[in-house]
Formats: sequence, C-alpha cells, structure tokens
Amino acid sequence: LQPMIDRTCKRYRETLPSLSVGKGWMTEHLVHYHGFWLTPKAALKGVMWIQDHFKPRPTDIFLATFPKTGTTWLKALVFAIINRTRYDFSDHPLLTTGPHDCFPFLDAYLYQNDQSVSNLDAFPSPRLLSTHMPYTLLPDSSAGSRFVYICRDPKDVLVSKWLFMNKLRPKELPPLSLEEAFKLFCQGISHYGPYWDHVLGYWKESLKTPEKILFLKYEELKKEPLVVVKRLAEFLGHPISMGEESKGVVQEIVRLCSFENLTNLEVNKRSLQKFSSDIIVDSRHFFRKGEVGDSKNYLTAEMIERLDEITVDKIYGSGLIF
Ligand code: A3P
Repeated sequence: LQPMIDRTCKRYRETLPSLSVGKGWMTEHLVHYHGFWLTPKAALKGVMWIQDHFKPRPTDIFLATFPKTGTTWLKALVFAIINRTRYDFSDHPLLTTGPHDCFPFLDAYLYQNDQSVSNLDAFPSPRLLSTHMPYTLLPDSSAGSRFVYICRDPKDVLVSKWLFMNKLRPKELPPLSLEEAFKLFCQGISHYGPYWDHVLGYWKESLKTPEKILFLKYEELKKEPLVVVKRLAEFLGHPISMGEESKGVVQEIVRLCSFENLTNLEVNKRSLQKFSSDIIVDSRHFFRKGEVGDSKNYLTAEMIERLDEITVDKIYGSGLIF
C-alpha cells in the first residue's frame, strides 16, 4: 500500500502547481481541477485518494451532494431508513449522534492516514458513504454503485453557503460580503463548483441510469417528506412494508430527522464535527433555518434576476427544472 500512497502524494505535489487559482471563501484559495473548483488540501487530495485508492462495490450507497443542499438532513434520513428495524425510535442513535457521524464523508476520510484505505476496505456491505465530489471526478468503476443526489434552488444554496462560510471564517478576517460571495458563486468559484455543473453531472447520469441514481430536490423533500422517504426507502432496497406504513414508521422517520427535532438535540447544539484534522466544524452551524426561499430575504432583485438567468442558461435543454 505504501508505494501506492507515495505515488498519489507525488501526483498531488506535481499537479497542484499547474492548476489555476481562484479566490477562496475562507483563507484558502480554490484550484481548478478538471472543470471544478476544489480546496487544494482537503478536496483535491480527497479526489486523488478516491481516484487512486477507493475500490467501489456495486453494493455501495453514495450520498452525493453539493455543500448546503441538504447533506445533513439526507444523512439522517438515509441512516434512519436503512437501520429502522435495528433501533427503537425512542432510543435511536440519531438522538445522541450527529448525522455527520452516522457515516463517513469519503472525501476527507480516505487520505487521513494510511490505515483509512484498509479500514474502508474492511467496512461491511452495503457501505454508506457521503461525498461532495462531482460525478465526473469519481472513478469510472463507481458507476456500478448506487447514488442518492439532492439538489436545491441555487439562490438558497448561495445564501446558505455565504452565511455558513462567514461563521467558519477566522475571526481576524473581515466577513465575506454578500456581493463578493454572489460574484464568486456566479463565476462558479465555490467549493466543488460551478454549482450548476455539479447538479447537471448527476442529473444527466440519473436520466441514463435511473436505477443507479436517485435524483432528489430539497424543495420536494420539504413539501412531501413522506412521499420522498418512501421513494428513498424503495431505492435503497429497504421498501416500507404495508405493516410499517400502517404503524406510522414513515412519519417516525420524518419526525426523527426533522429540522425541529435535530436542532433541539444536545449533540447537534454543542458538539464539534471533525471531518479530518484540518476540517472541524461546530455541529450547530449545519442547522440554520431549513426553509425554502429564505434567499429572498438577503438577495437584491437584481441578484435574483441574474442568478435565475444563469440557471436558465445552464440547464437549458437538460430537462431539469429548479
Ligand atoms: P439553510 O442555511 O438554508 O437553513 P448541508 O447539510 O448540505 O450543509 O445543508 C445545510 C442546509 O440544510 C441549511 O440550510 C440547514 O439549515 C438545512 N438543514 C439541515 N438539517 C435540516 C433538516 N433536518 N431539515 C431541513 N433542512 C435542514
């Protein structure tokens, strides 16, 4: 394993200086790698480690998301659906464990230490893995696995991300202005962005192989959580039985993972979320408002118009509607 890891380290060191650099949202700049903007440390390393060391299995279930589109919520839902017969809802691990600790974030997990690669190989199937990687950057061999993807109105993604990033920015830096965040987001310069390209990568693939990629929308999940949870359960290979339905299991899952419930739990109010040695986030920052359309309270009419224009332009002809 060591020679292989050394090869990846060498590839990383040689690639990094050749990449164009874009302004970051935090202290770190972003680099442009095969069409996407990544943090040089975590994300670029993450993608290279995945490409070189990750051995996908057809039974793997990926939760693929662009940051701020509903990762935390879906992690909780997928975990609750898959494990619903193992745990009682009144004594559920999600009451004491944050959604991000329920299954690993593959991008940050793999490169942490030399054992991570073999640890992941030893995980029992089906493995639940989460990733922010664009579909086209994942190894071809992962095409056999199943993916759940969630997208969200770009305006809400931008505002959620802007507020989140300002909470994480070191105190000695001035806050990032909304104008600056808007400009960067529109140019596609945001972690794993351009946002639209990220969404379209999974969308197009979901049209080709709907049995492999379940494409969800945050707005649909908000509007009809019971319907979406049933679809999710079916897709994950754990369909809700009639008996479960009549016992109110779907309602229990939705309630357990609801914004109201999760935000009131001590674990989500006070703990720290350690994704890797250099990515540690206060868990409460993953929960803000959890609403559809909150961006209108922040963006100007011109910003809304511009973002809608870009969206229409980008998704034109794809069949996707936001
Ligand atoms: P807002 O900032 O608009 O409130 P991610 O998990 O991908 O980082 O996304 C975070 C966004 O999802 C935040 O959006 C957060 O409030 C919202 N969110 C987190 N948990 C949620 C839940 N259980 N239900 C609905 N939205 C949730």
